[in-house]
Amino acid sequence: MKPEDKQEKTHFEYPKVTTFDVMREYWSSLRRHKLLLLLTFGGMLIAVIGSVISPLFYKEFFDTLNLISNDSTKDVSLLIKIIITILGINLINWAGWRISWFSTNRIEANVMSDCLEKAFVYLIKHSHNFFISNFAGSLVQRINRFSRAFEAIFERVFYDISSLVIKIMGAGIVLYFVKPSIALAMGAWVAIFLSVSYYFTKKKLKYDIKAAQANSKITGMLSDAISNHGSIQFFSGYKEESKRINDEIVPFRKLNIFRWDFAAYIDAVQALLTIGVEFVVFYYGIKYWSLGLISLGTFVLIQAYVLNIGNSLWSFGRVVRDIYQGVADAKEMVEILHLRHEIIDIPNARNLEIKSGNIEFKNISFAFGKEGDNDKHVFKNLNLVINAGEKVALIGSSGAGKSTLVKLLLRLHDIKDGEISIDGQNIKNVTQESLRENISLVPQDPALFHRTLVDNIHYGNRNATNEQVIEASKLAHSDIFINEFPFKYETFVGERGVKLSGGERQRVAIARAILKNAPILVLDEATSSLDSHSEALIQDALATLMKGKTTLVIAHRLSTIRKMDRIIVLGKDGVLEDGSHDDLLKANGAYAKLWNLQAGGFSSENIEAILDQK
Ligand SMILES: Nc1ncnc2c1ncn2[C@@H]1O[C@H](COP(=O)(O)OP(=O)(O)OP(=O)(O)O)[C@@H](O)[C@H]1O
Ligand SMILES: [Mg+2]
Repeated sequence: MKPEDKQEKTHFEYPKVTTFDVMREYWSSLRRHKLLLLLTFGGMLIAVIGSVISPLFYKEFFDTLNLISNDSTKDVSLLIKIIITILGINLINWAGWRISWFSTNRIEANVMSDCLEKAFVYLIKHSHNFFISNFAGSLVQRINRFSRAFEAIFERVFYDISSLVIKIMGAGIVLYFVKPSIALAMGAWVAIFLSVSYYFTKKKLKYDIKAAQANSKITGMLSDAISNHGSIQFFSGYKEESKRINDEIVPFRKLNIFRWDFAAYIDAVQALLTIGVEFVVFYYGIKYWSLGLISLGTFVLIQAYVLNIGNSLWSFGRVVRDIYQGVADAKEMVEILHLRHEIIDIPNARNLEIKSGNIEFKNISFAFGKEGDNDKHVFKNLNLVINAGEKVALIGSSGAGKSTLVKLLLRLHDIKDGEISIDGQNIKNVTQESLRENISLVPQDPALFHRTLVDNIHYGNRNATNEQVIEASKLAHSDIFINEFPFKYETFVGERGVKLSGGERQRVAIARAILKNAPILVLDEATSSLDSHSEALIQDALATLMKGKTTLVIAHRLSTIRKMDRIIVLGKDGVLEDGSHDDLLKANGAYAKLWNLQAGGFSSENIEAILDQK
């Protein structure tokens, strides 16, 4: 698979969502602003009706002008009255639009921030599996687009489509009373114009979607290349990368020319229709006028409507495209909003109550991927008991499932069969929050927030005092390097903590776990990036932390685990060996071989060879 194809790779089958679902999501927030909605609509209605009525007074004006131009007394007071009426209508029109726009500003700002919040709050509670199957960048984009699409859809539907409909209906009714045949002709023209515009817009939409896909693909490739800038530098891949990007850019350019030419053709057809109607209006206007069928004022009235409606019709294609685009953008987020959270608490789930901290894995089976997939099992009928207060080490070859076991204990994934329980309480029956509150984890690859060091450590226990934070940091030996930074604890650590070395990041994660001080402690290769000296120092701190807690330590370096109460060797088919360091050495099995090897130089090939031999 090419790296850029990874974008589409996801386990998730999103529920199908319709335009109606999108509208319902927006409505759930919009309905809370009924008064503003009323003002927006009312203001717009007044303004549009005003724009339909004012040409009637222009008609009056020209008819009066025509009348008095043949009159020698030339009393213009009537004309003045008419233009004052027009001024009044225009002012009402002006006020209507202002009311509408100021209300719209408030509606849009409110609904857009509701959308951002709603999308984030729901999305962040999706499962671990969801996040590792989706690109962070694309999720951020979905949230943003969902919120921004509202602005586009609301304005287009409200201001463009609704006002166009009202204008057409209003003008139709007025013209019908003035001259029914003209009303019919105008109706026919509008119908032709809209059909042509809609037909071509739909055709063009296909290519717009293709262009959006090509654009996302290029964005994905760019971000993949930029985040791998190191590899490009080390392997001198500049030319290769430019070629890969260029291979996508060339068809994108051709597609853009095609799309934009298409839009220009649509414009050309629309322009012809407009030129045609102008001519027809003038031609028949003159003809009817010369026959005395219409007055000069009526002629002006028709002209005014044709110009006004013509302008709105002109942008109809773009309006339809914007709405389609907005709905398509919003759908991507609504899919996520409609996707049920994968791991949910049972109804009325209780809080986990830790009495002594006994952990039991009973006959558990687990495989990544969906049921029925041919995915290999990580665990099949695994049984493991960690007694209350016991310190257990878990070792095994890379990929044996050690980190996965920790994730199952934290219920980041649900197991397929069996049961995991803590002090007799099935972790499926307790709240996820209480479960995770009771476990301090130092993960294998700790990632930090791009916040200050103090904020990152504080995350372990948000109620802790600053003194407690520093105390935990001292115990984790992170205090030393933190104090060397110019801003000390106020130093920002970069995205995911990239501005720290691997060992520094691990120490911050340990400090966080120390601060959390939960009754169950899990260390997944927590000190693997530290030099032996720092590790020895931290081991002392960790030994203090482990006191009275059930502890699970995963490590490749056997020297760090020899003092544990029990060592469990995990192989491809489950637990291979289980006992204390001395017991396992006596048993002279896989652990003993590894121990002897590490004493004389450890290598990962050795560990795999030994563990897989069984
Ligand atoms: N999200 C995932 N989707 C599919 N397979 C996965 C996923 N995470 C892990 N695996 C697979 O599950 C197996 C166990 O992985 P795990 O991370 O638990 O190994 P580990 O024992 O912790 O290894 P290491 O010592 O290298 O950390 C591996 O074969 C891995 O490829
Ligand atoms: Mg691991």
